[in-house]
Amino acid sequence: MLNWERTNIAVLTGYKSGEQSVNPKIIKLNTNENPYPPSPIISNALKEFSLHTLRKYPSPTADAFRGKVAELHNIRPQNIIATRGGDELLRLMITTFVNPGEVIGTTLPTYSLYPVLAAIQDCPLKAIPLSNDWELPSNFATQLNNASTKLTFLVNPHAPSGVLFNRDKIAQLAQDLDGILLLDEAYVDFVDPRLQYDSVPLINELDNVVILRTLSKGYSLAGLRLGYGIGAPELIDPMLNKTKDSYNIDALSQYIGCKAIEDNVYFDGNCQLVRRERSKLVLEFKKLGFQVVPSETNFILVTVPSNHKAEAVYLDLKQRNILVRFFDQQGLSDKLRVTVGTPEENQELVNVLTNLL
Ligand SMILES: Cc1ncc(COP(=O)(O)O)c(C=O)c1O
Repeated sequence: MLNWERTNIAVLTGYKSGEQSVNPKIIKLNTNENPYPPSPIISNALKEFSLHTLRKYPSPTADAFRGKVAELHNIRPQNIIATRGGDELLRLMITTFVNPGEVIGTTLPTYSLYPVLAAIQDCPLKAIPLSNDWELPSNFATQLNNASTKLTFLVNPHAPSGVLFNRDKIAQLAQDLDGILLLDEAYVDFVDPRLQYDSVPLINELDNVVILRTLSKGYSLAGLRLGYGIGAPELIDPMLNKTKDSYNIDALSQYIGCKAIEDNVYFDGNCQLVRRERSKLVLEFKKLGFQVVPSETNFILVTVPSNHKAEAVYLDLKQRNILVRFFDQQGLSDKLRVTVGTPEENQELVNVLTNLL
């Protein structure tokens, strides 16, 4: 059989999603989903959703949803694009702004979808290692500029470490970069509010920053596939009016997205519950002899005690119906990434680990 794929696609290993399971016995702490359900307002609203709405095409630019997001962040709808999860925004940033062959920058380690998206566009990736304590190297921007990087993906709070880079550092980085900065804030909902982290005002000061947000995490809507990008109109407009699919967000997602954002009381409570469980789980891991990276996300990166192998612990947990994430990668192969679950799920994890170790 002839291979019709483009040369770069033929050699590409696609993105590997975390294991899924339909077995109700499985405790799933491997893909950073929220353990709590979405706002109950959504189930009531669904009862009122008119089927006739589905007969027509939806708003091509998700206007009502973008209006809600604009109110939420105190910005204008022109600053916002709604996307099929945050992932669609990542792809749009590349297809809109990066020619094949131009360099895409990121950190090492990073979200494992970035290298795949870069390879699809046939772009080399410049991945710069973080320091041992998960900080950005001081010459991060210089290294990226020297490589003529067109677009840099930075995830903050960082994945897979969970560490938060402070806002001033991000602002300085955006200023120093010759190219565009995509600030991936998929996990920002779980940042402790006392830190007062808010990067959104940066888009008014800097014309090379786009911020990624998603309803998959803090809003417990990973199955909906809804996210959005925030940036200066000069960056948003070409994606909104030229490169996205004509009706990229279906009518039901637009409707549910509005309802979810309206219920800010539920959202705040939900994120607070996750933060509380995160603190408890950190203490339990420390008691068990794990080293824990300070996390501002809904997951924790832990180093297994030195007399154990991370991969073996991952497999042992799996055998006992608990899924966590193991990355067979330089710098991560002695670690596990564990999503914060419900109190019961976390307790079961701690019980099983206590027996195992
Ligand atoms: C770092 C990071 N960015 C973006 C996303 C995209 O999320 P979604 O497409 O569900 O909005 C994820 C999903 O896990 C992620 O981990």
